[in-house]
Amino acid sequence: MSKQAPRAQWASRLGFVLAAAGSAIGLGNIWKFPYITGQNGGGAFVLVYLVSIAIVGLPIMMAELMIGRQTRRDAVGAFIKLEGKRSPWCAAGWISVAAAFIICSYYSVVAGWTLEYLYRSLLDSFSGQPAAAIEGMFGGLTANGPRQLFWHFVFMILCLGIVIGGVQKGIERWNKILMPILFALMVLLFLNGLFSAGAWQGLAFMFRPDFGKLTPGSVLEALGHAFFTLSLGMAAMITYGSYLNRKENLLSASFRVVLLDTTISLMAGVAIFSVVFSVNMQPAAGPGLVFKTIPVVFSQLPGGQFLAIVFFLLLAFAALTSNISLLEAQVAYLIDERGWGRKRASAFLAGLAFVVGIPTALSYNLLSEWKVVAGLVFFDAADLLASNYLLPLSGLVTAIYVGWFWSGAEEKQQLLAGGAGWVYPAWHFLIRYISPLAVAVVLYFKVRDTGL
Ligand code: PHE
Ligand code: NA
Repeated sequence: MSKQAPRAQWASRLGFVLAAAGSAIGLGNIWKFPYITGQNGGGAFVLVYLVSIAIVGLPIMMAELMIGRQTRRDAVGAFIKLEGKRSPWCAAGWISVAAAFIICSYYSVVAGWTLEYLYRSLLDSFSGQPAAAIEGMFGGLTANGPRQLFWHFVFMILCLGIVIGGVQKGIERWNKILMPILFALMVLLFLNGLFSAGAWQGLAFMFRPDFGKLTPGSVLEALGHAFFTLSLGMAAMITYGSYLNRKENLLSASFRVVLLDTTISLMAGVAIFSVVFSVNMQPAAGPGLVFKTIPVVFSQLPGGQFLAIVFFLLLAFAALTSNISLLEAQVAYLIDERGWGRKRASAFLAGLAFVVGIPTALSYNLLSEWKVVAGLVFFDAADLLASNYLLPLSGLVTAIYVGWFWSGAEEKQQLLAGGAGWVYPAWHFLIRYISPLAVAVVLYFKVRDTGL
């Protein structure tokens, strides 16, 4: 690590906000948020989700960015720099990089599905097909190992191509290109939803709370998703924060990122449910909502092929900008802590994530009989480990550390100076009491319910 170039930085504040929003806005917003909203009955769930974002997501996002910026290191190095190599707090860094690695491997497989669907929309394979045939395509894809591996490979190469370019010339530049297109596509689909026959029903489903439909399980799901959707607990925000200029106001930067992420989720919900209701389909279709229901809906609407292309392009871009942040979080570790060059680190990690993603792509075909743990196929086991355990665990440790043990005077003072008088005490209260408590409760119930 002797003669290293000066550490990378974002070229502009807009570049940072778009990159961080690019990380946050992903499959979580456009695939997962709508389907869990559908499964949890709509309005009341959305409300709980918004509260979770405000009182858990935003404070932890600020904490992670603060740690990154203060230390200017990767997530493991950040804790080492703050507390020393042997400190138990370093566990938070290790767990988060491990989570980034695992998620990177299977996120790419799901992203590969979106590429397949984009390809099919370009070929116009949905138009004029009966609903059952379109719905069957999804099962056909997951049953097809080689095809999933092909798209998984393509997607990983795209990520690698961007991350290898570095912070400014790769990540920032591509986010500046992809994110505005993503916003434009989202607006298009949102307007399409608003002008469709089911608009009113869609809006009511999303925004008229029916608290009778709220279960304790929904509350946990909303809290857990607040975490995933903001890319917390996965080293991504610490790493992106580490490229942030000291002069930047962290409060407003985090606020923008959170606002963008939330807006996209809500727009995706309206865009999807409006069209789903306009052809009388079910909102509670589960994980297949986007890959089964949506192509069926579009096949029945005028201009459906175009809408499908827009939708899957949007999904692919969202997945791409998220996965590059997962890759970068690991790459930064090898560069900062092990002195690797960027090219070598990126190629090594993308290759490794590709390899570990192979059993994920084969989980519903070749390896469907291989139950890794508790009757779960590899894909589900990897997701369980990362989303249910590693994320909340690293988030919890981070919140406790920042709330109770980190002096971080400089960063905290900046926050004090950057906002109105109540901002700092409010943040401090949330990060000390509310965020850790909420995450601990989620963790407890997830562990209890899976019995692992
Ligand atoms: N926030 C992303 C989403 O909503 C997922 C993600 C998590 C991306 C962690 C990067 C890091 O899809
Ligand atoms: Na998100």
